[in-house]
Amino acid sequence: MTRMVDVIEKKRNGGLLTKEEIELFVEGYTNGTIPDYQASAFLMAVYFKGMEPEEQAHLTMAMVESGEQIDLSAIKGSKVDKHSTGGVGDTTTLILVPLVAACGVPVAKMSGRGLGHTGGTLDKLEALDGFHIELSKDEFVKQVNDLKLAVIGQSGNLTPADQKIYALRDVTATVDSIPLIASSIMSKKIAAGADAIVLDVKSGDGAFMKTMEASKALAESMVAIGEQVGRNTMAIISDMSQPLGNAIGNALEVKEAIETLKGEGPEDLTELCLTLGSQMVVVGGKADTLEEARELLKEVIENGQALSLFGDLIEAQGGNRAVIEDLSLLPQAQYQIPVAAEKSGYITKMEADDIGIAAMLLGAGRATKEDEIDLAVGIMLDKKVGDYVEKGETFATIHANAEDVSQSTALLLEHIHIEKEKVSPPALIGDVITK
Ligand code: URA
Ligand code: CA
Repeated sequence: MTRMVDVIEKKRNGGLLTKEEIELFVEGYTNGTIPDYQASAFLMAVYFKGMEPEEQAHLTMAMVESGEQIDLSAIKGSKVDKHSTGGVGDTTTLILVPLVAACGVPVAKMSGRGLGHTGGTLDKLEALDGFHIELSKDEFVKQVNDLKLAVIGQSGNLTPADQKIYALRDVTATVDSIPLIASSIMSKKIAAGADAIVLDVKSGDGAFMKTMEASKALAESMVAIGEQVGRNTMAIISDMSQPLGNAIGNALEVKEAIETLKGEGPEDLTELCLTLGSQMVVVGGKADTLEEARELLKEVIENGQALSLFGDLIEAQGGNRAVIEDLSLLPQAQYQIPVAAEKSGYITKMEADDIGIAAMLLGAGRATKEDEIDLAVGIMLDKKVGDYVEKGETFATIHANAEDVSQSTALLLEHIHIEKEKVSPPALIGDVITK
């Protein structure tokens, strides 16, 4: 019988693990027969020796099989899911759900809340008065079959192995291992029922992966896992050196999403949605090429179908669809406080992570699970990298429900850099990765 110590030793020596050896680890650790010290040693061995694509695929599927799997087979068509590795002001999910559904791809979205600078997609949707995210499995399936889209909260016991392994990685300095991250992310998407997966791997100051090389390696790993396990997967690398779009905050991002669905959104956010949306439409089988998909997406923005479908989603889940025409129905903060440039020049850098913290301090996000979010507050960026500002001109506006915003203001002044020399905006799409 294979023992865990042999599996650890094999990986420590750089060996290629079999499916059975990987399952031994995942099953044993999840059911408590393998202790933390052996699991820790194993994870550290993986951290240093890496894993081949087939090992990563086995690890992914062992984690998928550790818990419940959502069966979406009652929904007609190829179910496409999108995952972003997370950034500041990332409003794309709110836009992509109706945008891609309007092209005929069914979108059965399970979303989370999570910790961060702003809430997750679920929190953002709750800025829509009355919107509820609790649907039974049957209601969820029926709504996707009828309308092509639904968004619900995560439920069920998905990938318990990943939860347990992730918690151990967190305290053993093994989080930033590409095979471990890739299998962790892919396991959750597959357990949630995705047939095809589009990945937005963020790169830069405000992202989990700080460099282009690391982001690319992660994207390639996930695309390779997808290929091995029969889930059509594509990825892009997108810039997260500055926040995406202009809005950082929950209601502010809903407003920005609606504007983008009308074709009036910020240029970078619109472009990212068209890029990711094209991949979703192709892997969802509604277009043969990315170019053809992009034309479809532009068409459903121009003819109002994407926006109207967002209205249908809001209505189906208990909200008031009038918000798509009347943005004043969204929660508004009591104070709007302009932040003015202290000198004239070009914006050369907007450090996404610190700007995210400035939004979180206003109450837009959670530092711990218990924190309450204030849906109305956040930051609007009136300028982005490459723009010129005059001394005294507003470059950002703080939306707050407290009068004292000195901490957030100080962060914005410190981490938004203004220099004499003009710089070009960073390239939004770093790379596109397909099998
Ligand atoms: N996000 C995940 O879901 N898993 C990881 O391992 C890292 C980031
Ligand atoms: Ca920084």
